[in-house]
Amino acid sequence: MSILRKQFLQYVGQTSPSPLMIEVSKASGVFFYTPEGKRYFDLISGVSVSNVGHSNRCVIDAVKSQVDDYMHVMVYGEMVQKPQVEYAKAIVSELPASLESVYFINSGSEAVEVALKLSKRYTNRTELVSFKNAYHGSTQGSLSVLGGDEQKSGFRPLLPDVRQLRYNNIDDLKYITDRTAGVIVEPIQGEAGVVLPDSGYLQSLRDRCTSVGALLIFDEIQSGFGRCGSLFATLREGVTPDVLCLAKALGGGMPLGAVVSSNEILHSFTNNPVLGHITTFGGHPVCCAAGNAAFKYIKDNNLVENANIMGALFERLLTGKRHIVEIRRAGLLLGVELGSSEKLFKLMELFVARGILSDWFLFCDTAFRISPPLTISESEVIECVEIIDDCLSSL
Ligand SMILES: Cc1ncc(COP(=O)(O)O)c(C=O)c1O
Repeated sequence: MSILRKQFLQYVGQTSPSPLMIEVSKASGVFFYTPEGKRYFDLISGVSVSNVGHSNRCVIDAVKSQVDDYMHVMVYGEMVQKPQVEYAKAIVSELPASLESVYFINSGSEAVEVALKLSKRYTNRTELVSFKNAYHGSTQGSLSVLGGDEQKSGFRPLLPDVRQLRYNNIDDLKYITDRTAGVIVEPIQGEAGVVLPDSGYLQSLRDRCTSVGALLIFDEIQSGFGRCGSLFATLREGVTPDVLCLAKALGGGMPLGAVVSSNEILHSFTNNPVLGHITTFGGHPVCCAAGNAAFKYIKDNNLVENANIMGALFERLLTGKRHIVEIRRAGLLLGVELGSSEKLFKLMELFVARGILSDWFLFCDTAFRISPPLTISESEVIECVEIIDDCLSSL
């Protein structure tokens, strides 16, 4: 084992019982490279972070230019910082009119915390509703609305008054009542193994929230920024939430989270109490500059269209291959179902040996993930599928 790998285990806090241990020396486009020169297809993108590809020139230039001007100057919300203003304006210009103001924070979990706090503060209610097999983050609030018991069991008591419903189950919507402050949902469930909403389901959820006065919160931390084949799933589904949570690809590879909502809802943080959520680094100018450059790159280079075309190509080329029983897909987010975790874990070993980085889903360990940077080309998809096919044949 290299010295750096040994020191990684010795000095860097470990949370995984079996880390991948792949040492990265460089990342470019859809590939990682190790110091030994081994190349890996990145089919994870840091879980839908690197939508514009690794080492994207536009993002690098934006970061360098902002670093030269200024980095952190003050806690969030006091000083006027051009990268924040420009990025907020660019984001809301692509969203329905009621999503008109952006509150920047640091991460996806923090965005979820903010959305849950906002819903309690705005409605003066306490109950929170979420869905089984939903992933919303790892802090105590976001963990409270996560849809799996195993992840929560070691950390109870968590938030009280949380109710979990079955996703895509219309009958369960009756449990959303005039006691409910907020309902948080991934419009396309990621860690459940890529589960799409049934036709009309999100609209029914929207209608129920409206009729009882609960805030509807969309967690688009994984599905946003072109990943699901439209800029945001809210646009794809034609259903507008009261609060939209963003992170991951939002920062173009830098750490950034955001909550987008109406001015009216967001203003509840300015009184009773004032400063309803405080963040030191939220909306860091370098992260906003990077994110804005990445967002522009997605639009200028038609990455949403490319996500649809390349996602469909993956699906077409993989359909009917040995061991694959189902492919679930939204844009360039694919869950390739093998129906067996034993097969899946073996396949992951073969993938690493052959230079493919993929994984399974937190709530679905029988399917593997295909979510490469949205910049992936046709020839790269074809080459990647050839390797996947070889690995499947060796199972
Ligand atoms: C749908 C969803 N929500 C929230 C989060 C939490 O984001 P973060 O890890 O930035 O806190 C994730 C992360 O994987 C996610 O996929």
